[in-house]
Amino acid sequence: MSEPTGKFIVVEGGEGVGKSTNIDYIKVLLEESGKKVVVTREPGGTALGEKIRELLLDKDGAAINADTELLLMFAARAQHIAEVIMPALERGQWVLCDRFTDASYAYQGGGRGLPLDRIASLEDWVQGALCPDSVIILDAPTAIGAQRVTKRGDKDRFEQEANAFFERVRNTYLQRAESDPSRYHVIDASQPLEQVQSSIKTVLTKILSV
Ligand SMILES: Nc1ncnc2c1ncn2[C@@H]1O[C@H](COP(=O)(O)OP(=O)(O)OP(=O)(O)O)[C@@H](O)[C@H]1O
Ligand SMILES: [Mg+2]
Repeated sequence: MSEPTGKFIVVEGGEGVGKSTNIDYIKVLLEESGKKVVVTREPGGTALGEKIRELLLDKDGAAINADTELLLMFAARAQHIAEVIMPALERGQWVLCDRFTDASYAYQGGGRGLPLDRIASLEDWVQGALCPDSVIILDAPTAIGAQRVTKRGDKDRFEQEANAFFERVRNTYLQRAESDPSRYHVIDASQPLEQVQSSIKTVLTKILSV
C-alpha cells in the first residue's frame, strides 16, 4: 500500500460539546485552503457501520455487554478504514472524522472501565500504521454538553449514562491529550461558538502549515 498523502483529522469530545457544528466549520476552512475533504463519522461512515451504529445507540435495544460494545465499535471501524478512510487518504483527500479510536479509549476504557491494553490490541490489529494526524478535542464541563443535548431532545443509549460516566470520558480525553501535545489540540468548547471557532481556526492554521 502506498503512503497516504491526505491528512486524517479527528474531532473528539463528549456529548453535545459541538462536534457536528464545528466539523461543518472545519470543512469550510479546509476547502478554502484548497483541500478536498471527506467528512465522515464513527461509529458509522459506511452502510454496514451505520447499521452497527443503530445497534449501539438504540436506547430501547438489548443490553450490550461492554466487550461486545468495544468489538462492535472496532468492527465498524475496520469497515470504515477499508471502505472510506484509506481510499480517501490515498487519493490525496483530507478525512475529517467525527470521533475515532480516542472515543473508544474515552467511552469503553474510561467510561465503561475496560482494560486499556485490550483497546490497544484492537487498535493495533484494525488500524495497523493508520493514526490520526491531528485530534481536535472539544472540551467542556459535562453539565454544559448535557444541557446542549437536553435542548436537542431524545437521548440515545450513551446519552442516558450518569454524570460520573461522562466525567470519566472527559478525563480520559484530557489525559490522552496531555500524553501527546503535538497531535492533540484541546479547545475550550464552553465558550460562545464564535470564540470556539476562532480557537479552531488558530489550530487549523498550525495543522495546515505542517
Ligand atoms: N459553543 C457553543 N455555544 C452554545 N451552543 C453550542 C455551541 N456549540 C454547539 N452548540 C449547540 O449545542 C448543540 C449540540 O451541538 P452539536 O450537535 O454540534 O454537538 P455534538 O458534539 O455533535 O453532539 P453529539 O455528541 O450528540 O453528536 C447544538 O444545538 C448546537 O447548536
Ligand atoms: Mg454530533
